Amino acid sequence: MGARLLDGLAVAATIRESVMPRVQAFTARAGRPPGLGIVLVGDNPASELYVSSKVKAGGESGLRVDLQRLPATATLDELLRLVDALNRSDQHDGILVQDPLPEAMGKGASQRVFDAIDPAKDVDGFHPINVGKLVQQRAHLVACTPSGVIEMLDRSGIAIEGRRAVVIGRSDIVGKPMAMLLLHRSATVTICHSKTRDLAALAAEADILVAALGRPGFVTRTFVKPGATVIDVGINRVTDEALARSLLAGSPRLAVFERRRSIVVGDVHPEVAEIAGALTPVPGGVGPLTIAMLLKNTVTAAEARKSGK
Ligand code: GUN
Repeated sequence: MGARLLDGLAVAATIRESVMPRVQAFTARAGRPPGLGIVLVGDNPASELYVSSKVKAGGESGLRVDLQRLPATATLDELLRLVDALNRSDQHDGILVQDPLPEAMGKGASQRVFDAIDPAKDVDGFHPINVGKLVQQRAHLVACTPSGVIEMLDRSGIAIEGRRAVVIGRSDIVGKPMAMLLLHRSATVTICHSKTRDLAALAAEADILVAALGRPGFVTRTFVKPGATVIDVGINRVTDEALARSLLAGSPRLAVFERRRSIVVGDVHPEVAEIAGALTPVPGGVGPLTIAMLLKNTVTAAEARKSGK
């Protein structure tokens, strides 16, 4: 086991500490704390867990966090009306609608909802205006997971400039903005996806390899150049016994699986720890950073709204 483990909890704690004085200064000046409206539609268990972590972290950092729930049977129009009310609210500086939405809302519902959020309150950085600004390197609200990865690299002393970076996954939420942020830091970036030929060989050219495809244990040792930094963005719930046994062999987490019959694993196979120079664990790697960056984005949105920027 050679890789240095990159501690997301510790880095997230540092980011959250740096947000505190900004929250206090804003609250003193505005006479109210920065406000975040979170909307959760339906009862997807993974979303429930993510949202409760966001609510808890926001409260701990002195933000006002309002969770608004809609039933799985809610219509897209109802959700859009709720977003509209949050757009017009003076108390809310940030709006986050947890993805995915129930399938019954129809194809393209998420896009319509993200499009409807006031770009100045778009703490997810998903609105097309903020995505466009990101491409032009002038965004102040950037998607939380990829910006958290950049913070993790910076705060862990891992150089980006001039290095080869490979991102596996091309989602709007992680893969594409991740590639853009790495490019802006002067990495040479390749995006790989399900149709990429010789994916393992391409990945093995990376100095920085980001796995964001959502397949448990997909990235094995053949994907990794010795000494590379490997960032595991995957959060996959595994209930299949054989898969859990193969991914958790020799780990104390196997006992946890045996008790709960369910466990969260990343996209990176544990054997990669023998090859990589540095590696983010799952859990405790990128996940806490996503939340820290959400808090940071909420304060940034609050400050910008207050100063009329
Ligand atoms: N679902 C998974 N990750 C995210 C995220 O960063 N933001 C939102 N809104 N939904 C998500």
